Amino acid sequence: MLDVAVFSFLFLYMKSLHLCMQIHETAFIVSTYRSYHESVSKDIYAKLWNNPKTEALIPDILNSVSSKEAILHSLRNRFFYENLQSFFKKNSGGTLINFGAGFSMYQFLLDPTVSTIEIDKEDIIEYKRKRIHFWTIEGKLPKRDTSYISFDFNHDSAETMVNELKKMIHQKPIFIVLEGVLFFLDQKVTHKLFKVFEDIQSAGDLVGSVSYIPEIEKTNVYKRLLHYFNSHNSTNDSFAHQTIPTSYYTQINGYRLKEHTHEYELSKLYTPDAQIDNPNDILNEHLYLLERV
Ligand SMILES: C[S@@+](CC[C@H](N)C(=O)[O-])C[C@H]1O[C@@H](n2cnc3c(N)ncnc32)[C@H](O)[C@@H]1O
Repeated sequence: MLDVAVFSFLFLYMKSLHLCMQIHETAFIVSTYRSYHESVSKDIYAKLWNNPKTEALIPDILNSVSSKEAILHSLRNRFFYENLQSFFKKNSGGTLINFGAGFSMYQFLLDPTVSTIEIDKEDIIEYKRKRIHFWTIEGKLPKRDTSYISFDFNHDSAETMVNELKKMIHQKPIFIVLEGVLFFLDQKVTHKLFKVFEDIQSAGDLVGSVSYIPEIEKTNVYKRLLHYFNSHNSTNDSFAHQTIPTSYYTQINGYRLKEHTHEYELSKLYTPDAQIDNPNDILNEHLYLLERV
């Protein structure tokens, strides 16, 4: 997906936001996509993150990779929105832990009884924490119990993450979201994250995960994505371009695969008029719900 294409290579100094630090532009792009299709994504707060620099990048991405990227990201958000709503309603509260949270705003759409822990790299987390604080004081966001912690999934150990998170979790059950992140990680790190999930969750808790299946590597749209990435990567940052077979999700220790869908299928459900005719023409991410057993 496009969040992928721009991930490591676009760092913008957010001077337009009066902030002199570097931020992964990909999180801004995904959030802007959600704001373009609010009725699909249900994310009425995404637009708070919109800024001219990000909006200037988007037309080129939609033209050179796929025009459906914004709607697909909105469908992805809708999938998690619906599942988070039903999980926390059924359980009268609990904790949402968002790994690689970027500028996701789920907690502001959920019941105030839900606590949220947001995890990302330090620059994103510190920026997000400050903006959310400010917008809450201004009354642009409802008050929510949100904590923030920065990890680098590549470098922090499973033990560090488990110990830190256990101190922060005050209410159960736990719904973990891992959305738009796995493409950037390798298999070893993916495995480490699922070990962390297993250690902090209890039976009945859920993990929602997103990844590409390996078959996408043969499609032209995916080749365009990689080409776009390669031609815009000015930082020499390398990452895994990970794809994951669905069978991986059926074999994770401590979990059973409860639900599997993909964005093409979701488009038929939520946006039948979006003119998405063939799953091979889009960057069709697969979405999984896993239940801790
Ligand atoms: C495309 S954004 C997705 C953000 C959000 N989950 C969403 O769907 O809107 C990818 C996020 O993963 C985070 N990320 C990527 N690699 C990471 C790592 N090694 N450690 C922590 N966060 C990472 C990025 O900082 C970024 O916020």
